[in-house]
Amino acid sequence: MAQNKAKVLVLIHSDNGGTYELAKEIAKGIESDNNATAIIKQVKESQNQKLKNIPVATVDELPAYDGIAFGSPVYFGNISTGMSEFLSKTVNLWTNHSLEGMPATVFMSAGSGAGKELALQAFWNSLAVHGMVLVSNGIRGNEKIDKSIPQGNTVLGTTTMASLKDVERPTKDERILAQLQGKNFAKIAFALKGTFNRKEVAFNEKSTDFNQILKEKNIILPQVPKPAGNYKPFVRTGNLIFINQVASKDGKIFNPGKLGVEVNEQQVKEATKVTMLNVLSVLNEAVGGDLSKVKQCVQLTGIFNTKDDYTNHAVLMNTASDLIVEVFGEKGKHARATLGASSIPVNSSVEIQAIFEVE
Ligand SMILES: Cc1cc2nc3c(=O)[nH]c(=O)nc-3n(C[C@H](O)[C@H](O)[C@H](O)COP(=O)(O)O)c2cc1C
Repeated sequence: MAQNKAKVLVLIHSDNGGTYELAKEIAKGIESDNNATAIIKQVKESQNQKLKNIPVATVDELPAYDGIAFGSPVYFGNISTGMSEFLSKTVNLWTNHSLEGMPATVFMSAGSGAGKELALQAFWNSLAVHGMVLVSNGIRGNEKIDKSIPQGNTVLGTTTMASLKDVERPTKDERILAQLQGKNFAKIAFALKGTFNRKEVAFNEKSTDFNQILKEKNIILPQVPKPAGNYKPFVRTGNLIFINQVASKDGKIFNPGKLGVEVNEQQVKEATKVTMLNVLSVLNEAVGGDLSKVKQCVQLTGIFNTKDDYTNHAVLMNTASDLIVEVFGEKGKHARATLGASSIPVNSSVEIQAIFEVE
C-alpha cells in the first residue's frame, strides 16, 4: 500500500547536471523496491535548463522523510558550496535531534575524480554529526563493471567522473551502481521506517511567522528612522547586531522633554514604546525582514531624561522590555540597564541601546 512505503528524498546540488544524472538512477533504484518511493529535490534554484524544473527542498521538510540520499559535485575533495550552505542551515534540526536514526546515503559527481573518496567521506562527517545511519555501498555490483575504463565505484557511494570523456558519463556501469545503491537504500529505509523520533514539534518553533505575530498583537513597525549624522542605523559584528534609537516618530520627536518638567511618566512610557518600535524596525531590516533569524535579545539599555532625584527608571523601561518579550517570548528576555541623564539628543525623553544575537 502506497502510504506504507518508505518516502525517500534524493537531495542534490548540481551545477552542470552530472549529479542529477546519478540522482535519477538512484531514484530509479529506490523505486525498483516496491516498498519505497523517491522524490528528487535540489538545495537551491538553478538557472541551468536541465535543472530549473527540479523542486527546491526546505530544511524544515527533511524530518518528514524515511531516508535521504544526498548528492553533490566534488569541490576540492569536499562537498560543494551549495550543499554545504544548505547543511549549514540545519543547526536547528541537529539541536532537536530531528535526523537522528534516519538512514542516509551519498553519491557525487566529480571532474577527474581527484579526491572523490575524501569528498564522500566529508559528506559523511556532516551526516554523522546529525546522527544519521550512514549506508555505504561496499563493493556491491563491482564484479560486473567494465574494468577497462575508469569507473566511479567507491565503497562509500557511487560517483561519476564527468570530465573523463572516453565514454559518455555517467557510464553505463556507474548508472547501474547508482541504481543498486538506491535499491539497497530503499530496503534499509523501509526496514528503519518508524523507528526514529522526528521531533518536528520542537523544530517548528524555528519557523515562527513573526509577521503573523506582529499582526495578531497589532504591532505596526514604523519606517526605519534615517540616521541624523555620519553613522548607521545598525552595525552587525559576527552574530551580534547593535542598535541605538530615540523616540522619533514620523520625523518628529514623540513626547519630547524632561520627565517631571515637560512630560509625565505616562508620556515617557509612550515615548519608550515608540523608541522600542524603532529598535524593532531597524532589527527587522538588519535580518532582511526575517525576524525568525533573531536568536536572543541580549541586552537593552534605557536612558531617560530625568531630574536628579528621579529613581523610577525601571518602571519606564518595562514598557520596552514587555514589548520585546511579547514579540519574541523567551528569546526576548534580556539583560538590562537603566539610567537617568540630564539631557538626551534632540530633546527625546528616552534613548534605547539594544544588542541582539542573530543567525
Ligand atoms: C570549485 C570546484 C572544485 C572542484 N574540485 C574538484 C575536485 O577536487 N575533484 C574533481 O574530481 N572535480 C572537481 N571539480 C569538478 C566537479 O566536481 C565536476 O565538474 C562535477 O561533475 C560537477 O557536478 P555537476 O555536473 O552535478 O555540477 C570541481 C569543480 C569546482 C567548480
